[in-house]
Amino acid sequence: MSAPTKPVDDLTEAEAGNELARLALEIRRHDALYYQNSAPEISDGDYDALRQRNDAIEARFPALARPDSPAVRVGAAPAAGFEEVRHEVAMLSLGNAFNADDVHDFVARVRRFLGLDENEPVELVAEPKIDGLSAAMHYESGQFSLGATRGDGSVGENVTRNLETVVDLPKKLKGTDAPDYLEVRGEIYIRKDDFADLNKTREAEGQAVYANPRNSASGSLRQLDPTITAARKLRLFAYSWGKVSSRPWETYSEFLDRLKAWGFSVNPYSRTCATVDEALALYDEIGAARATLPYDIDGVVYKVNRLDWQDRLGFVSRAPRWAIAHKFPAEQAETVLEKITIQVGRTGALTPVANLTPVTVGGVVVQRATLHNEDEIARKDIREGDAVVVQRAGDVIPQVVRVITEKRPKTGGPQPFAFPKVCPCPLETPPHREPGEAVTRCTGELACPYQQINRLKHFVSRQAFDIEGLGAKHVEAFRDAELIKTPADIFRLREQRETFLAWEGWGEQSADNLLAAIENRREIGFDKFIYSLGIRQIGEATAKLLARTYETPEKWRDAMQAAARERSILPEEMKKPELVGDAFAALCDINGVAFAMADDLVAFFTEQHNLEVLEDLFDQLTIQPLEKVASESPVAGKTVVFTGSLETMSRGEAKARAESLGAKVSGSVSKKTDYVVIGADAGSKAKKAEELGVAMLTEPEWHKLIGS
Ligand code: IVH
Repeated sequence: MSAPTKPVDDLTEAEAGNELARLALEIRRHDALYYQNSAPEISDGDYDALRQRNDAIEARFPALARPDSPAVRVGAAPAAGFEEVRHEVAMLSLGNAFNADDVHDFVARVRRFLGLDENEPVELVAEPKIDGLSAAMHYESGQFSLGATRGDGSVGENVTRNLETVVDLPKKLKGTDAPDYLEVRGEIYIRKDDFADLNKTREAEGQAVYANPRNSASGSLRQLDPTITAARKLRLFAYSWGKVSSRPWETYSEFLDRLKAWGFSVNPYSRTCATVDEALALYDEIGAARATLPYDIDGVVYKVNRLDWQDRLGFVSRAPRWAIAHKFPAEQAETVLEKITIQVGRTGALTPVANLTPVTVGGVVVQRATLHNEDEIARKDIREGDAVVVQRAGDVIPQVVRVITEKRPKTGGPQPFAFPKVCPCPLETPPHREPGEAVTRCTGELACPYQQINRLKHFVSRQAFDIEGLGAKHVEAFRDAELIKTPADIFRLREQRETFLAWEGWGEQSADNLLAAIENRREIGFDKFIYSLGIRQIGEATAKLLARTYETPEKWRDAMQAAARERSILPEEMKKPELVGDAFAALCDINGVAFAMADDLVAFFTEQHNLEVLEDLFDQLTIQPLEKVASESPVAGKTVVFTGSLETMSRGEAKARAESLGAKVSGSVSKKTDYVVIGADAGSKAKKAEELGVAMLTEPEWHKLIGS
C-alpha cells in the first residue's frame, strides 16, 4: 500500500477527485483479496485508514462522491464456483469507534436523531466483535434450508453444504416458537487451537499456511468440496437476523435469549448495559480477557437494545445508525531489531525476517517478525539496529509497524539495508525479481534444498509422475534421509532398497511394490514430463502445448537453451517480446504462451543446475512424444476468438485449453472464425462477430461445449 500523503484538508478539488478514484480502486482490490481470496495484503488497521480517508474526502467534497464509492459498498462480489444468493435484506457493515469519545459521540448522535433528552436512558447491548466472516443461515419451518456468505452485501455465495458442517449450527431449531421463515446471521470463526492444528497439518503436507484464524475460516467456508470444510471445525456465534416472517421480540437482548433457546451459540460476553460507562467498562473487561479467549476478536460491538428505536434510526450508507464497533488497538510494543535474515520458502520466495530483542506483545513473546519483501523494508526504511514498534496483526503474525527514528543516532547510526545479492541457500546463486513483482525468488529451483521438498512432491503428484505409494510423507522421509534429493534420484531408489527396508513400516512386499511402481513410470509422456518439472506458470495445458510444438525432449531443450542465450545477453529493460531473438520469439508465437510465461520458462534454462537435473532425468527415463490431438473434441479444427475479460480462466489458460483440444485460437474476428467467446465488457470484436453472424458463446456456454 502506498502511504496516504497529503492531509485531506490540503487537497485541491482536482486532487480530491483523483484520490477518490485511486482509493476506490485500491479498496476494491483489498476487498477482493480479503473476501474472495481470503489472503489480505494489508492489516485491518491500514485498511480502515484507507476507508477513513475516503470518507473524510467525501465529507469535504460531497459532490465528488463516486457511484462506485467504497462508502456505499461492502465486501466483494461472489467468486466463481458457487451459486449466487441474493440477500433480500442487505448484509451491512458497522461504523467504527476508536476511543471512548467516539462511543460517547455515537450515543449522542442516537439521542439527537431520536429527539431524546439527556436523562433518558439509552440501553446498549455490548458484545465481542468476532474476527471471522459473516454468514446468513435460513430456516424454513425450523429446518436449516439455505446458507450464504455476505459477498458484496447484496449477493453472496451459496455455501449451504459447507455451513451444514459448522460444529454448532443447529440443523433443526429447538422449540416451536421460531418464525416460519427465519434468517439468522452470525459470525463463522475457527478457534485458535483448531487453527494452529490446521496450519501444522498444512505445513506437513507442504501447503501454504493461513496467516490467521479469520483467513483460514474464510478459506475453509469457501471450499468447493464440503468434506474439506467439515474437517476444519468451523463454529458460529449468532448475533442478528435478516428476512423473517414475523418478529415477535422487542429488544435485541430478548432476541439473543431466543437464539439460545433455538439452539444457537450466543457469545457469553454479550451483556445489556444501562449507560455508556457501563458499556465501556465491559469493553475493558473483554479487552483484558482477549488474549486468553479461545477465538480472535477485534473489538466490541454496541447495539441500541430497543428495536423500535433501531427501526427509526435505520441505516446510513453501509452501516446502521443503531450500532457501532469499538475497535481494539492493535497490540503493540517497542523493541530493537537486531538483525534482518532472509528465509527461503518452499516456493523459493525470499522473505526478509526481523530478528528482535524478545518482547511481550499482548501476552505472547515475540522474537521474529515478517518484513514481507524488499520494498516494504525500503518503504519503512527499516535498518538493522533500529528501535522499532512491533504489533501482532490479526493476533498471529507479528509485524514491524515503524521505526522510531527519533532513537536513531544522528551520526554513525544504522545503515540502510541492502537486500542480499546472493541467495542464502547453499547454491548461493543470485536471486531473481521479476519486474513489477514484489517477491524475490531463489533461482535454485530443482536443485535448491529449500525448494526440493515442494518440487519433489509436485514431481510425484497425480497429474505428473503419479507414482503409486510415493506420497508426500514418503517423499519427506526419503528427502530427510537424503536418499532422494533430485527427481532423478527416485529412479535410483532401487539401489537404496536395503537402507529403507530397515526403516520402521517397510517390509519386503511394500518396498518391492514401491520400486515396481517407480519402474512403471520410467516411461512417461512428454507433456507430463514437462509439467512435472514444476516450472513457474507452466501448468498442464501449457506443458501439452510445448510437447506438441517441440515434439521431442531434445528439440525442446535445444530450443529453450537457444532462447535462454538470447535472453541472458539482454539487459533487464530490453526483455520485451519485440527485442528478444528468433528462438525466444518462436516460443512467444505459440498461441497460449504469454511473454511472462515464456520468460519464466526460459529463465529455468538459464540455470546450469536445472540443466543438470534435466540431463540426469533424460538418462533415467524414456520420454514418449505426445499422441495426436483427440479429434473427437467439438472444437478440434475450429477457429476460436476470446474477447472481453474472462472470469473463470485467464486468457492464457483459455487459449491453452482450446489449443489442447485442437482448436486454433486467433486474435481477431473474421469470416473464418467459428466461435467468439465473450467475456465481460467485450467491445468491437463482439460487435464484429454479430455483424458477420459468427456463433457467440458466453463463458459458461463455452465450458459446456468443451465439456469442462
Ligand atoms: S452486527 C448491520 N455483531 O463485523 C450490521 N457484527 O464490521 C450487523 N461482526 O459484517 C452486524 N461480530 O461480520 C455484529 N457481534 C457482532 C459481530 C459482528 C463480528 C462482524 C460482522 C460484520 C462486521 C462489521
